Amino acid sequence: MHSRLILGIESSCDETAAAVVRSGSETLSNVVASQMTMHAVYGGVVPELASREHLRNIVPVVREALTRANLAFTDLDAIAVTEGPGLAGALLVGITYAKSLAFALGKPLIAVNHLEGHIHAVLLEMRERQQAAFELPILALVVSGGHTHLYLADEQNDAWTYRNVGRTLDDAAGEAFDKVAKLLGLGYPGGPWIDALALYGDPRAVEFRMAQIKSKPGHMPHSDNDRHHDFSFSGIKTAVLRHVETHGLRASIDARRAALAQIAVPTLADILPLCDAATLGLIASFQHAVVSYLLRGTFAAAEASGSRAILVSGGVAANRELRTRFTAEAAGRGLPIAFPSLALSTDNAAMIAAAAWPRLQRRLFAPAELQATAQLRLG
Ligand code: KG4
Ligand code: ZN
Repeated sequence: MHSRLILGIESSCDETAAAVVRSGSETLSNVVASQMTMHAVYGGVVPELASREHLRNIVPVVREALTRANLAFTDLDAIAVTEGPGLAGALLVGITYAKSLAFALGKPLIAVNHLEGHIHAVLLEMRERQQAAFELPILALVVSGGHTHLYLADEQNDAWTYRNVGRTLDDAAGEAFDKVAKLLGLGYPGGPWIDALALYGDPRAVEFRMAQIKSKPGHMPHSDNDRHHDFSFSGIKTAVLRHVETHGLRASIDARRAALAQIAVPTLADILPLCDAATLGLIASFQHAVVSYLLRGTFAAAEASGSRAILVSGGVAANRELRTRFTAEAAGRGLPIAFPSLALSTDNAAMIAAAAWPRLQRRLFAPAELQATAQLRLG
């Protein structure tokens, strides 16, 4: 099939995004309007505010994506939109807009799973770098504020399949970063702050034990191949809280929170002097424990499933310790590994347009009555 232009639209959480991608391999534009600073005031995403902001941003963001790509609406071959998972009201804004646009232009509409999008963010950038495609199957860790999933991804004749081989049973890894940061009086979202501050602390200062998840009775694996590599992040959050209480860190947390509340957009230079060695050690140890845990689960799943390559995507894939240690572990095992650029780690629409490309080739179009599916699963 000759080259095709897909407009991707993403509005599942707190970013309104639109992008134009040619044939799943060339990004012509990638526009993201982030609501982060608005939600930061509340210490988390407020669903009603998110929907309102998507409504305000969707038209200018899509228009900007076309302008930057130097295209008119009539040049497009298809419209792709995130169907789920995500916030129902937020998803609805993108879906309603995409449906109307597809109808008005007489172009096909393609529904994309947000998690599949995160996987295709990496595949898109590999094609852009003209890097040889990975051998299949690929073990993909999708790790963000809402998800911690392991998928075995495979493809035949443009039909991608995903088998879920692991997931979190409670909080997502990014959620654990955000909650621990909040607990320590740091800003929202907490992941980037923990990432930056961990460099200054001793990762061996505090020892955390992560939950070893056993297969549920009745779901005993038939073979190693079937084993699930599940995660749980609620315990470490409680352990950090307990450490704060037993080591008298409360007063310094309150002081830090009060000092940061006076600064509109704090920088690392503002925060670092407000953190003592005990706090920095706690931060570094927390991150070290989470990364070790994700690393163990991911590589065990890769081995059990006979994966030929590893891919890590989603907001937490931006974490420097995670990238360094996963890269070293993969090299030691002779497994190729890839991460998205920082821009494509967090939510964006280029990944939605890229994931839609194999569907366009197979003419897998969404019905006119496409609905938002907040709990949509992959695989
Ligand atoms: O993929 P994403 O933008 O949105 C979701 O779909 O959730 O991921 C956002 C999450 C937040 O929890 C944020 O704290 C985390 O990714 N995050 C990080 C880093 N950058 C973002 N976590 C650890 N280290 C980072 N550098
Ligand atoms: Zn996401």
